[in-house]
Amino acid sequence: METPQVKFYYKNVTAEVLGKEHGITKQQFDELVKKTEPLIEQLNAERKAGKTKYRDLPYKTDMVKNVKKVADGVRGCENFVVLGIGGSALGNIALQTALNPYMYNLDEKQRKGPRLFVLDNVDPQQLSSFLDWAGDRLDKTIFNVISKSGRTAETASQFLTICDMIEKRIGKNRLKEQIVATTDAKEGTLRKITEKFGFRNLEVPDGVGGRFSVLSAVGLLSAAVCGIDIEHLLAGAAEMDKKVSLKDFYQNPAAVNAAINWHYYNRGKKISVMMSYSFALKDFADWYRQLWAESLGKAKDLTGKEAFVGPTPVKALGATDQHSQVQLYREGPNDKLFTFLAVKDFEKDVEIGKSPDVAPELAYLSGQKMSRLINSEKTGTEYALLASKRPCLTVAFDRICPYTVGQFIYLFEATTSIAGMLFGINTYDQPAVELGKDATLALMGSSDYAELAGKIKPFEKMDSSFII
Ligand code: PA5
Repeated sequence: METPQVKFYYKNVTAEVLGKEHGITKQQFDELVKKTEPLIEQLNAERKAGKTKYRDLPYKTDMVKNVKKVADGVRGCENFVVLGIGGSALGNIALQTALNPYMYNLDEKQRKGPRLFVLDNVDPQQLSSFLDWAGDRLDKTIFNVISKSGRTAETASQFLTICDMIEKRIGKNRLKEQIVATTDAKEGTLRKITEKFGFRNLEVPDGVGGRFSVLSAVGLLSAAVCGIDIEHLLAGAAEMDKKVSLKDFYQNPAAVNAAINWHYYNRGKKISVMMSYSFALKDFADWYRQLWAESLGKAKDLTGKEAFVGPTPVKALGATDQHSQVQLYREGPNDKLFTFLAVKDFEKDVEIGKSPDVAPELAYLSGQKMSRLINSEKTGTEYALLASKRPCLTVAFDRICPYTVGQFIYLFEATTSIAGMLFGINTYDQPAVELGKDATLALMGSSDYAELAGKIKPFEKMDSSFII
């Protein structure tokens, strides 16, 4: 059997399909080749110089060994709970949705490991409901706290709450058994706590930002615990690594993808919609939102000049959002580039039931496969968007498996790197996230931010003259 592939299809952005106003002409493609090919070489050189460490993750055999060892030690639990946020959660969620069945948590027959929960928020109502349930099952539950720094307020507050609960309900000596930490190898608050309590632990690799860390212990542990073949995942990423390193623009899907996105951004299509026609892939649209937004949304370029750039990533799900968003997508402003995620062969299929005699108008559906319907919905929607001159890309999965998911992850990470170079910004920092974080700490009474606290009105003290 041939190895399944992820394929990138871009004909539906060309002038041949969309006309000159909204499509990319041969001459414009020539310009994109000229601009992008040197950047591919530059990125390859930066990678060799160790500046893009995420690129080396597929080859870290020691990391895989460590992850599998910890996974083997905890797989017997009934519940595995990830405490993390942003880059320490979105990849875990996306892998689980993509590679395990929809009813995984509810149906024992459909699961190869413990139930998985990823708590990536601090909503008290949501958390209370979870704690009410988990509180009676603490001895059968393992908590994987993931934080590079350990100071992220959301993760830290969940972690402190869980530790407290474990201590009170099953005893302090159980902390060591119920908690696995994934954190910086040497420094930081969580590393300090880990050493003190002797938690089992894994490393967040040095030089790999949260949003590029799904193929490290950050994303791999929960995947391995829940029965996902992480070696195949990394093998798929390694295969894509070869493709996205190719110097020839037209052979390199990350280069073509980045260049098309950049081209449209500069021509007023500043919104990038990722629309998955697979429920399993829907959370990768969420993962992509963070990758794209935090990496490319920047106020300054590399020379320090004001830039205020960044395409706005939007997630959508087909066919669901055809009944919610497509009216806007076709008749609203032509300011979007669409990237469809599609699947050729679904692992499982469903035959549509018989229509009753009184409804002969439904007979055309009877006996057909649901896979044919969802793929027809994708093609139909794309056809309609093209009729409205809206540019469309497709990332087609031969099938959804760890290998193709690994390819997809690596393709979009490399696309982000090249897009960042085209925009001329620092892809790997996120300075704008800090102020809001600092303000939260100030409002929560952290003495490090006392001065800032004086400048902000708490939620309960909203200016009453503006309340209607
Ligand atoms: O991409 C990023 O760097 C962020 O989303 C981080 O992953 C997120 O803020 C969590 O940080 P930490 O791992 O330090 O808790």
